[in-house]
Amino acid sequence: MSTDTDASIDIVRRYEDRSWGDDGPTRGVEDVVEAGQVLAFPRLAFVLEDGERRFLDPRWADAKAKNVSVRWPAGELRGAVGGADDLAALRAMIVRFAEQSEALALRLFPHYRGHLRRGNTSFRPTDVAGRVRSWRQDDTRLHIDAFPSNPMQGTRLLRVFSNVNPDGAPRRWRVGEPFEAHARRYLGAIGRPLAGGAWLMHKAGITKRRRTEYDHVMLQLHDRAKADLGFQQSGPQARVDFAPGATWVVYSDQVLHAAMGGQHMLEQTFLLDVEHLRQPETSPLRTLERLLHRSLR
Ligand SMILES: [Fe+2]
Repeated sequence: MSTDTDASIDIVRRYEDRSWGDDGPTRGVEDVVEAGQVLAFPRLAFVLEDGERRFLDPRWADAKAKNVSVRWPAGELRGAVGGADDLAALRAMIVRFAEQSEALALRLFPHYRGHLRRGNTSFRPTDVAGRVRSWRQDDTRLHIDAFPSNPMQGTRLLRVFSNVNPDGAPRRWRVGEPFEAHARRYLGAIGRPLAGGAWLMHKAGITKRRRTEYDHVMLQLHDRAKADLGFQQSGPQARVDFAPGATWVVYSDQVLHAAMGGQHMLEQTFLLDVEHLRQPETSPLRTLERLLHRSLR
């Protein structure tokens, strides 16, 4: 694999915040994240309590589940194995990350207040390198986030990540070209979805809701990028390491990313409808509609 860094892929913006709450200095940076930049906070650590360090061990994750997660709005813990007291403490750690992430997001993006919805919170104690999977599920390949069973219908995926590795190991990412350039790379080869297919997949329970043409195009972009070894090896890209103690924030449905290595991370997903962006025209939905000259709803 090429490890060349393309100087044109300069999308990481660094901020010196050290606190999650309202006293932190950075606020009102919606335009930066909506432009497809990665907001990096190298000094913003998610601090584990003494009794929580024991959770930095893959044995707490169910062998079948990749991640331990807390699902909202109910707040139930999923994918973890252990005794009741341990699981309650593990859940409390993940819930604290959810609350701190939400406070951070609302300070960074006050325009989203009242509209940002809390999605799942996940804890990933397993090593990225150990996760051998099919090419489609291989997140060491550059991709935008799009999920076969969970159509977003244009809703944005905003994610907050923190590296909590205790041994100094960075979370190693690659990031790639801007969304519009990426869409143009494959859009000409993407056909329309099969008539009736979306209805059938929803009725059969394959998708949680109707897969719109937006979801069809996003899944095609996800799959075509991962299947394109030439693009993976020599497409525009840059390496980014997030050291332990770092937090970063990104629209993962817009920023090409690949997780090359690392262990012990927390991640909070937020959902936001396109009309509540400060600049809705920057969204993947509006970008694809502009390029295709039609509605993808
Ligand atoms: Fe991803």
